[in-house]
Formats: sequence, structure tokens, C-alpha cells
Amino acid sequence: MFKIGVLVSGGGSNLGSIIDAIENKELNCSIEAVISDKPGVYALERAEAKGIKTFVVDKKEYKQETSNKILEILKDKVDLIVLAGYLSILNGEVLREFRDRIINIHPSLIPSFSGPGMYGIKVHEAAIKKGVKFSGCTVHYVNEEVDGGEILLQQVVPVNFEDTAKDLQQRILKEEHKLLPRAVKLISEGKVEIKDGKTRIIE
Ligand code: GRF
Repeated sequence: MFKIGVLVSGGGSNLGSIIDAIENKELNCSIEAVISDKPGVYALERAEAKGIKTFVVDKKEYKQETSNKILEILKDKVDLIVLAGYLSILNGEVLREFRDRIINIHPSLIPSFSGPGMYGIKVHEAAIKKGVKFSGCTVHYVNEEVDGGEILLQQVVPVNFEDTAKDLQQRILKEEHKLLPRAVKLISEGKVEIKDGKTRIIE
């Protein structure tokens, strides 16, 4: 069974989409752990309601050791780490140990509106301000560069003139909930090749 660990920081709607995909038998994998860098977030309640093991690695307590503590929990336990609304930056040994086995979902078409400081509603505010006609979401591999790893999947979402940042966020979130489970499925089925900084899907 393909095993995953999911990192969260907030509401966990992307975690919920993975849980739903597993329950609907669209995704043949098991969530071995849900780890939050913040206590008391709803993502933890979502996991606990399904009997999934949860951990809190409070970034306020662990600070620069947060990534190392996450590695300690997940090393040799999972095949893939999925960042689902995780807001801390992963760094250090975990990136080496899980090279090409960590993915993240970002709510824009990377490289637009991505990189340090670009997360949550700020991404959509920047897109609205710039007047782009399309935005979207991206699943990418995680490396040392924030939002810099190989792009795996992207989904385009139209931006309407009268959209607020919240309108756009909600429209993109719906697509995130389809894209992330699809990415996990492709990887779990061994259908992704990473080469020369790009990915190829072998359907
Ligand atoms: C989502 O927009 C996701 O793209 C970003 O974090 C936001 C919240 O995600 N990474 P969730 O509802 O906590 O899964």
C-alpha cells in the first residue's frame, strides 16, 4: 500500500480532498500521519474524525528544528510527503532524505505569484491587482527553493473583472481539490518521471 504523510497548517480542505478520494476508492493509498505546525487547526479535527494519526510539531516551539522533527516522525514510514496548506518552509535533511518524494499545492500558475511570502489570500490579491485573465493552481515537487521544484500538474482558472480575491480563492480551491488527489494517484502508480528539471507523465 502506498503510504503518505500530510503536512497541514490550517483548515485542511486539501487534506479532506485526499481523504475523500481514498474513501471513494479513487486513490489507493493510506495516510499514515497528518502533521500540523500549528495546534488546534481544523485539519487535525478532519484527520482525527477518520482515525488518522495526528502530530503537532509547533513551529513556535521547534523553530528551526521543525523540519528535523517532521523527518523523525516520517522517516522510513511513508513513500510520499504531501504539503496540503502547509505554511512553514521545509528545509534541511528532510529535503535530502525525501528528494523527489515531497509535493506541494500552490494556488497559482507557478512561476506567477509564487515564492517567499506568496501564500494564502496574498496570492489572489496579487493576481487581481495585476489584472491577469487566468490564474489557477499548481502541484510541484518541493526542493530548497520556495515553490521552485519541478512542476507536476497545473489547472487554469479564469479570472473575471468583478472578482474579489476571495472569489478567485474559492474558484481555485475547487480545482485544487481535484488536482492534488490526481497528483498523488499518478505518483502512487509510478506514472511520473522527473528529468532535467521537468516532469513527464507516463499514462
Ligand atoms: C490553499 O489555497 C492551498 O493552495 C494553500 O493553502 C490553502 C489552504 O489550504 N497551499 P487548506 O484548506 O488548509 O488545505
